[in-house]
Order: sequence, then structure tokens, then C-alpha cells
Amino acid sequence: MCSKGARLKTLGKRAKAGCVWVKLRDEEKRMLDGERGYGTQRAMELLVALGTTFEADEMIPVTRTHVALSGQEGDTYWCELLVDGGAYCKVPPTTNPAWAVEELSGVSDVTDAERELAWRTFDVYRRIGAKLTYCCTPELAGNVPAYGEHVAFSESSATPYVNAVLGARSNRESSVSALACAVTGVTPRYGLHFAENRKGTMLVDVEADLNEAYDWGMMGWYVGRFVGSHTPVFRLRNFRRRPTPEELLYLGAELNTSGAVPMYHILGTTPEAPDMRAAFGGVAPAAELVVKNEHLAEQQELLSEKGGRINSVMLGCPHYTYDQLIDLAGRVEGKKVHPDVSFWVLTSWDAIELARRSGHIGAIEAFGARLVPDTCIDEPCWKTFEGGTGVTDSPKNMYYRKRRGQTFAIRRLSECIEAAVRGEVS
Ligand code: F3S
Repeated sequence: MCSKGARLKTLGKRAKAGCVWVKLRDEEKRMLDGERGYGTQRAMELLVALGTTFEADEMIPVTRTHVALSGQEGDTYWCELLVDGGAYCKVPPTTNPAWAVEELSGVSDVTDAERELAWRTFDVYRRIGAKLTYCCTPELAGNVPAYGEHVAFSESSATPYVNAVLGARSNRESSVSALACAVTGVTPRYGLHFAENRKGTMLVDVEADLNEAYDWGMMGWYVGRFVGSHTPVFRLRNFRRRPTPEELLYLGAELNTSGAVPMYHILGTTPEAPDMRAAFGGVAPAAELVVKNEHLAEQQELLSEKGGRINSVMLGCPHYTYDQLIDLAGRVEGKKVHPDVSFWVLTSWDAIELARRSGHIGAIEAFGARLVPDTCIDEPCWKTFEGGTGVTDSPKNMYYRKRRGQTFAIRRLSECIEAAVRGEVS
């Protein structure tokens, strides 16, 4: 069905002509007709439905994909449906984490059904031809699109990064649609695949001090609350250096969790915003927002639990990078985690290996923190901490864990470490 009320900026070029079917090439028609098996047919049906909804004019090839595999029943069912119908990925996707079953089964009282679902997930994604990276920051290493490349990325922290920071073009895909793109090798052309839909519409004047990734994340959450359907353009009043990849990662992750923001610009920094004219396409901003230090402080207050005893510290949502591990190692030297606290750092296996080879793991392990690869915070392996309070540097971590019954104080990294040592957060 065509969505007549959809925002023009989300639509393909033929939107103004009214409700149209997506024009398919011969190979795409053959997929839709089932000539490549019913798994590929289901995938193409889904993309045609999506294209029709957003009034796409045609399908375009994608050169990279990333699937936010969640290890939850719906996603795994969809992948099994495609594989049972003979589907295999034409553009192999990297994958998000589920959880490291062997390593973490003992941490919580995980049921056989939960373990079984994880094994089913690993097995079926292997059979469909995915690249099993189990990491939620593929855009930093392992699956890095180039400027202008048309891709299909799901994962809320990855999509804004590939669009805004790398200048690649992806819509805000779900795990289901991204897998369909991986199988067929195409995506419906609408939304952010068009240059004109990528322009900014809201000016965000940042007067707040952005000292570390934490501040960027809090700003992302704050702006995400107000941005609605706009594309924000950040003008940094007091920031005089280039942001780090981690700072940009935190910004996008939180923008796209409190809001639905797959694209943003930073004036003079991100590739499609060298100046105001380029960022806004020569049109005046339709909305404006100012971000001050007091807004970010109030935001932390609103999101965070108050002080008190804690049972855990969780870092790595999105996954900690190698540079963050080094930073952590330097900060915890000579300190010790309180016996009542479990300190977890979720990261990628390659960041762990690199940190080990480079001699940075010793300080982290002596401190008492555990580095965990291949794992997301939104999984059953953490249930032993539910009902208690943890500390995290990530509002996104708080948001997903709270739905599972674990509350969080949100603090910058230095305060997370301090809380871990004292066994309580002030
Ligand atoms: Fe990664 Fe899971 Fe957070 S996929 S960004 S650890 S919710």
C-alpha cells in the first residue's frame, strides 16, 4: 500500500506522481517470481512491499550490508525462513552480536531454550552466508563503506555513522530488511539514497562543552528527543578539534535511540556539510535548537538512577573500540573492583586480541574487569543483575536493560570506575 501521508523527504523521486509500483529489472522479476527459490522470493517480496510503501521508483544494487542480528526469535525465524527456501547471501552481511554462549552461560541462570535460540541463530546465519563478526561497530573496522556507496545497514549506532560520517547512503534498515538486501543484492531506491533527502533541516547550536565521548552521547540523546523528522545540523560553538570516531559513534547511537535519526551533519566536519549552504542545500533551517551545559546535566538527571549500592558496571554499548580499551587500561592501573560489583566491557574479539598483543590487557584484568566479545547488553545472559542497579556510560545501555528490569545510573567513564571501586555510586 502507498503511504500517502508519508513525509516527502523520505520518499523516492516519483513520489509526486502518486502511488506507483517499483519498476523491476528482469533479474529482480525472476527473483520475485521464485526462479531463485522461495527464500529469495520472500526476500524480494519484502523489498517490493517496502519500496511500494515508500514509493520507490526502482531497485538499486547495494555493495555492503550489515544485519543487526539480535538472537531474538523474530529475526532468527526470518533467517530460517529464507534459508529453508534455499536463500544464500549475494552481498554477505557482517552481523551484530547475540551473546557468547559458552563464556556467559554460567553468569546467569540461562534456560536451555535461551541457549538453544542462540545456537539456532549462529547456525542459520552461517548457512545463509553471513560474515559472523558479532560486532555492532562494523563501520569502524571490517565493513567500512566509502563515500557515496549505496549500502543497507541495520543497527541504530551504525546507520547514522555510515551516512553522516562516511557519506555512504543507507536507509534506517531493520535486521529483516537488511537481510533481504543481502540475499537479493538490491534495495528499493528511496529516502537517503537521494542526495536531496540528505540535507539538513534543523540547526542545532551547541554551546555545551564536549570533552569526551560521554558528552557527545548525552547530547545525542537530548537532541534525539526534540528532532522529530528533521535532519539535524550541529554547529559546534566551543569545539576546536576533530571529533574522535568514538565521539561520533556515541552521538549517532543516542540520536538514533531517543529519536529515529539515520542522518546528521556537523558543520565543517562531516563530508556533506563543509558549510551552511551545502548542509542545508541553500534553504533556511526549518527549526532550531540550542544545546547548553545545563541541558546535558538535566538530561543525565532525568535518565539516571540516583546514587546507592550497585551490582555491576556495563561498558561497551556500542562495543568498546581498541582505543577505548587502552584508555580504560590507563585509568584503572593500580585500582581494584569492589567484591560486590561485576565489571563488564563488551567489545569485539579483534579489539581484545589487539589489546592483548599490545600489552594493555594486564591492567584491565588486574583491576577485575572482564572483556567480553560477541555479546550485546540486550540478551538473557545478564539476567542475574536484573532487579538491581548498575552503572554505565551509555544511555542506550540503560534504555535496553531497563526494559529487562535492570536500572542504571549513567555516569562518565571516570565516575563509572570510581563507583566500581567503592561499590556504590554517588
Ligand atoms: Fe551493540 Fe547491543 Fe548496544 S548491539 S549498541 S551492545 S544494544
